[in-house]
Amino acid sequence: MFKKKFYITTPVYYVNARPHLGHAYTTVFADILARYHRLNGKRVFFLTGIDEHGAKIEEAAKRAGKEPKKFCDEQNAVFKKIWKLFNISNDGFIRTSSDSHKKAVSRVLKTLFNNGFIYKGVYEGLYCEGCEQYKSERDLVDGKCPDHQKEPVLMKEESYMFKLSAFGEKLKKIINNDKLKIRPLGKKKEILSFLSGGLNDISISRKNVKWGVSLPFDKSSTAYVWLDAFLNYLTGIGWNGDLKNLPNFWPPDVQLMAKDILRVHLSIWPALLLALKISLPKMIFSHGFFTLNGWKMSKSLGNVIWPEELAEKFGVDGARYLLISSLAYGADGDLSLEKLAEKYNADLANGLGNFTARILTLGSQIGKIKISGLNKNIGKKIKEIQKNTDKNIKELKIQEALAEVWRLISFGDGELNKTEPWKIEDTERKVRVLFNLIILLRSVAELLKPFIPQTAEKIFRSVKISGKTINIKKGGILFPRI
Ligand code: MSP
Repeated sequence: MFKKKFYITTPVYYVNARPHLGHAYTTVFADILARYHRLNGKRVFFLTGIDEHGAKIEEAAKRAGKEPKKFCDEQNAVFKKIWKLFNISNDGFIRTSSDSHKKAVSRVLKTLFNNGFIYKGVYEGLYCEGCEQYKSERDLVDGKCPDHQKEPVLMKEESYMFKLSAFGEKLKKIINNDKLKIRPLGKKKEILSFLSGGLNDISISRKNVKWGVSLPFDKSSTAYVWLDAFLNYLTGIGWNGDLKNLPNFWPPDVQLMAKDILRVHLSIWPALLLALKISLPKMIFSHGFFTLNGWKMSKSLGNVIWPEELAEKFGVDGARYLLISSLAYGADGDLSLEKLAEKYNADLANGLGNFTARILTLGSQIGKIKISGLNKNIGKKIKEIQKNTDKNIKELKIQEALAEVWRLISFGDGELNKTEPWKIEDTERKVRVLFNLIILLRSVAELLKPFIPQTAEKIFRSVKISGKTINIKKGGILFPRI
């Protein structure tokens, strides 16, 4: 049978520091979409990975007193450990320092050079090492890069240039007519206005950065780290740089990221693909940005919550839930441990946890419950919520999708309070009422599978269907109060 494919990517994260909550957010978001599409029968490839080359990583390794390779190997282990802790179901993990990736990058550079898209010139301009990106005066606030609070350096060197300027108009058209979708739509507008300013050619080589892919046509320089990094989206699904042989998962259905790297992903990245005549990704989605207690999260400012701390405090599923419910569609959000704990207690310990415990306690007093007809109203409500959740997930409104599930939980609470099964003396009637509540609980668990898979699994283990009955086991507390 022909199965539709779904290819989703996260950015490859810089390994100069270990992953923080922002990285965890994107990765959990992608995981939810991957799990959702797998459950719906698609052939899914979910790619994440790490960005290991360039001046910034070279510096970080130096500060740690390690060779870049060794430093990156260690960081690789840290990233993998955290994604495992968070139950991330990625199908691939790309390292940009891997031989296969480097070979493909080198091959692409050669192709671009031979086809005249790379030429020798002089680059003169501002560059922020924090972003590893070129800056113009209009990008700066008080002369500094607003993201890194650092003055960019003036770079002037003989360098190989990529003809980015040739692609601005074409990109505008492609984005305008949604051949490459940018969502939310507000971001599409922003990018279109940015492209209207025109694109300049960029330098794609570095003379004094050793830690990178050397240019096949001039070994004295290495490739600009972003050019190297973008190609991960192709090499991560097995591409070796051969234009006649693209991987069958290509192109990505969704590329997830935040606004910090949206512009480069809608200028250099698609321009490279156009130059190579490779089809473009279908959608680029920019989610919101977290601040912590009102401040940018930054290791140097001491303003971070590490993902493993969050998982320790709230459990892995608790952490996944809190991350996802903290950002509305496309909007930024501010976190604080107090707010997270409040939300945890209200939605997980009380909401879902309490609802599950009440039903399982009542059900386990009976043990086996015969499958009977479902009450019409309840059936209708379940269908309605399933429909809304699906719609929201397809539009990448995952916070909103989760909120729908919580609507079903409140509805279930209402049913429980209305029917008061603990007061019913007639066993047959009691079993019928409980059957309906158990189906409600199972429907909640079904909807939660992509979001908090371990919890969904625990609920299913407590309400197992076998033949014409459902066996109820009480199970432990899902989310202890904090
Ligand atoms: N290495 C580049 C990406 C290359 S992709 C070809 C890079 N790495 S990064 O480590 O800085 O990761 C940036 C991404 O991490 C953001 O786009 C977003 O996905 C995630 N986040 C990092 N901080 C974040 C927040 N504070 N809030 C939400 N997401 C954030 O850029």
